Amino acid sequence: MTRRTLFVTTALPYANAPFHVGHIMEYTQADIWVRFQRMCGHTVHFVGADDAHGAPIMLKAEAEGITPQQLVARIAADRPRYLNGFHIRFDHWHSTDSPENTFFAQDIYRRLRAAGLIEQRSIEQFFDPVKGMFLPDRYIKGECPRCGAAGQYGDNCENCGAVYAPTELNNPVSALTGATPIQKSSEHYFFKLSDPRCVDFLRRWATADRLQAQVANKTGEWLGADGKLADWDISRDAPYFGIPIPDAPGKYFYVWLDAPIGYLASLKAYCEKIGIDMNALLADPATEQVHFIGKDIVYFHCLFWPAMLHFAGAPYKVPDQVNVHGFVTVSGEKMSKSRGTGISPLRYLEIGMNPDWLRYYLAAKMNAAVEDVDFTGEDFMARVNSDLVGKYINIVARCAGFLGKRFAGRLTQAMGGDGDALLAVVRDARGDIAAAFDGREYSRALREIMALADRVNEYVNTNAPWVLAKAAGREGDLHRVCSVAVTAFAELSRMLAPVIPGTVAQVADLLGVDFSRWDEDSRVEFIKPYSHLMTRVEERHIDALFDNPVAGDAAPAAPAAVPAPAPAPAPAPAATAAGETISIDEFAKMDLRVARIAVAEHVEGAEKLLKLTLDVGSLGTRQVFAGIKSAYDPATLVGRLTVMVANLTPRKMKFGLSEGMVLAASDGDGKTPGLFLLSPDSGATAGMKVK
Ligand code: MSP
Ligand code: ZN
Repeated sequence: MTRRTLFVTTALPYANAPFHVGHIMEYTQADIWVRFQRMCGHTVHFVGADDAHGAPIMLKAEAEGITPQQLVARIAADRPRYLNGFHIRFDHWHSTDSPENTFFAQDIYRRLRAAGLIEQRSIEQFFDPVKGMFLPDRYIKGECPRCGAAGQYGDNCENCGAVYAPTELNNPVSALTGATPIQKSSEHYFFKLSDPRCVDFLRRWATADRLQAQVANKTGEWLGADGKLADWDISRDAPYFGIPIPDAPGKYFYVWLDAPIGYLASLKAYCEKIGIDMNALLADPATEQVHFIGKDIVYFHCLFWPAMLHFAGAPYKVPDQVNVHGFVTVSGEKMSKSRGTGISPLRYLEIGMNPDWLRYYLAAKMNAAVEDVDFTGEDFMARVNSDLVGKYINIVARCAGFLGKRFAGRLTQAMGGDGDALLAVVRDARGDIAAAFDGREYSRALREIMALADRVNEYVNTNAPWVLAKAAGREGDLHRVCSVAVTAFAELSRMLAPVIPGTVAQVADLLGVDFSRWDEDSRVEFIKPYSHLMTRVEERHIDALFDNPVAGDAAPAAPAAVPAPAPAPAPAPAATAAGETISIDEFAKMDLRVARIAVAEHVEGAEKLLKLTLDVGSLGTRQVFAGIKSAYDPATLVGRLTVMVANLTPRKMKFGLSEGMVLAASDGDGKTPGLFLLSPDSGATAGMKVK
């Protein structure tokens, strides 16, 4: 077998929000692949980084009164809890806001310019005169030029689906300040993808040996029969959080130019760390560059990125594989990118759920096609309990006790004819299963492994060690049957090692077997006293997982309502007692906003709650469930202004998602009855910050 050298990345997550389960899915897919390749003896450099630049991060930091660097650092500090928690083992984690990235971005740009692929031209854009900056499309709102719907973003209408330029909106306003934007021209830099050389190259690059068929088709469509790609605007005007463009004062690279270059920046930092020569690594024709990404960012990775690399020239090399996955949905619902609805990965860990359960579940639903994966509580519980616990763990759980009690933990190596035959079947399947892992057909790999587990369980059933244990003169058979079953269990563990590494590490200890190589037979001499390797998923886990904050951002998760002792990577801070002080920074974390109650409704079946739809100006609308039914008739609330906490972690309640909280005064002791909703003085408008 030829040794491979693999440079593997996952997409670089935006550094303005914590990971959601979609990220965990992508990293799990890549991590399984990397672990498998390493087991096969290949060399892998697996790196990630935070995608730090861009307008949203700059504006979010500004709203919090901190620098973008501080915001990025805060988010980055939290990454290891997720990555370690789910056994995702990057060799290095970096940032696009780094000297390495500045160097590579400017270097690649200069080479593209020298190749005649950079063009400068003046374009007209919306400019916010109050803020003094050009507005990205998503920060402009107005009426749809086609259907007239109000409050539509600058690029497309959510009401009728029309796609347009922001300058076509009627009555446009800046979502940042509410000011009417003016049109202003500015010099922009373009990557000339319209150059025939680009299309020529991409036609040759975007083929089925590098891309999934679906992705190659899509890319082929973009390249079109007429072979015309639009030039790509790669510059942004100050103020912008990004990398300065050489010889262009006040101009920065658009975040999507420097983001994929972050793969190289991370690799560079990693190479320095371990003392290898990155240029030599990339120049080696045997090195493969492999990217794992989601379906929403194919255009960037299959057109812009390879073109940038190709025309920049050596030592840069073009990707060998771009592996595209679908999206995770939760109970059939799309997760919102910005608000991260769905299940919270940290919450999952905090309530003591086993990370290997989720890895297994996701893997069991993943294949090499671009397909979405739905997470539902019942399905998760059924799948993990029936496969992992009921089939795989069951084997050792049934046999370990006999070996311990009757044979002092020693196994025999004389397996007998049927034992040898069973082990041969299991070992013979390794080739097929390896091909499935290598081809990212994880669901097939796991189906085959579970079919083998079924075979082993049948063997145990047929030979019934519990009967042998009571029969006179059957010691030898009992020993043999249990030794066969535990050895087969070891083989299955080896095959599952890429998927459930935490559990398999425990098995390695239990059996004294090294599972770090794929193609090796397991010889088990001795089994330590057996204790639980994996418990079952219970209803209470699922309840606790769903009945809670769903974004896990700044707000700490409420203490878990599960009785099980849980390893808590993030203990919830104790509530601040009355009279204790907080710093201004702690206060500043709260995003308080003036909100207009647009709709107020009774909620079927709710005793205390009213459902409010709040207009929060530039933040859009929010749905909030407020416990004010006893004090207010919904009809009297419509149209009035109040104050809300806008950055509270969304909370999934029995009646729906609550996306914030309105503020009301009450006597904590209940001596004075009543609830008093706060109101701002007249003149305040929806969306204003309260500080
Ligand atoms: N910063 C860019 C990527 C730059 S790569 C040079 C970005 N970041 S992201 O945080 O929005 O997404 C990171 C990755 O997560 C992307 O591959 C994206 O497709 C993936 N996912 C985002 N939501 C997802 C799901 N719901 N399910 C699975 N993957 C998802 O895009
Ligand atoms: Zn419309």
